[in-house]
Amino acid sequence: MPMDASKWIDVTTDKNHYSLDHFLIPTHYEKDVSSILIPHGVIMDRVNKLARLIVDEATGPLVVCCILKGGHQYFADLVNAVKKLTNKEGKTVPLSLEFIRVKSYKNDKSEGVTLSISDDECKEFQGKNLLIVEDIIDTGATMVRLLKKLEEFSPKSIKVTSLLIKKTPKSNGYIPDYVGFSIPDEFVVGYALDYNEYFRDLDHICVISDHGKKAYAV
Ligand code: IMP
Repeated sequence: MPMDASKWIDVTTDKNHYSLDHFLIPTHYEKDVSSILIPHGVIMDRVNKLARLIVDEATGPLVVCCILKGGHQYFADLVNAVKKLTNKEGKTVPLSLEFIRVKSYKNDKSEGVTLSISDDECKEFQGKNLLIVEDIIDTGATMVRLLKKLEEFSPKSIKVTSLLIKKTPKSNGYIPDYVGFSIPDEFVVGYALDYNEYFRDLDHICVISDHGKKAYAV
């Protein structure tokens, strides 16, 4: 079930931007980000809460699917938190881990999603409870196509968590079951979200600057 917006942390206003002076930033990125949107400590606290919600609602073993590459940091921290928690019966949730690289084609010739795992491997999802872990929902197109594809393999249930959801007029309306933060319609980097493979070594989630876009353009 889509998470109610009142349960997300909304960091979409100007007031939510921290100055670069407020926290430590790697010196090699000082000119490449304009503000800090979500400090690393806040991300970690939020991940703990999302883990709590996931464990409370888990009805059995979970196959936790990491959507590569951007989702890997959130996935790693979330799995670490989930495995330490117990449900209302005092039981821990058995986890198995899957890694899926997703490529979507957004031109009108191809509307599919290609997955890095084969159909044969996906058949293993039949009858299982899947938890998809994504870094960010922007338009929602990738997730809608991914879910359509996974449903072909008849899992018992599919839930989705995304650390971020972008407030954008381009949204197709898709809302995950567990959302960390809603963010403004800007390009963000850090905490494994990249711009042309850069900024993965930045812990805070930051807004990229025009300087950064130019410096790392391909
Ligand atoms: P969607 O299909 O438009 O929802 O796009 C989702 C994908 O676009 C994410 O998995 C990211 O890889 C990428 N993406 C969208 N916005 C950002 C951003 O602000 N920073 C980094 N990656 C982004």
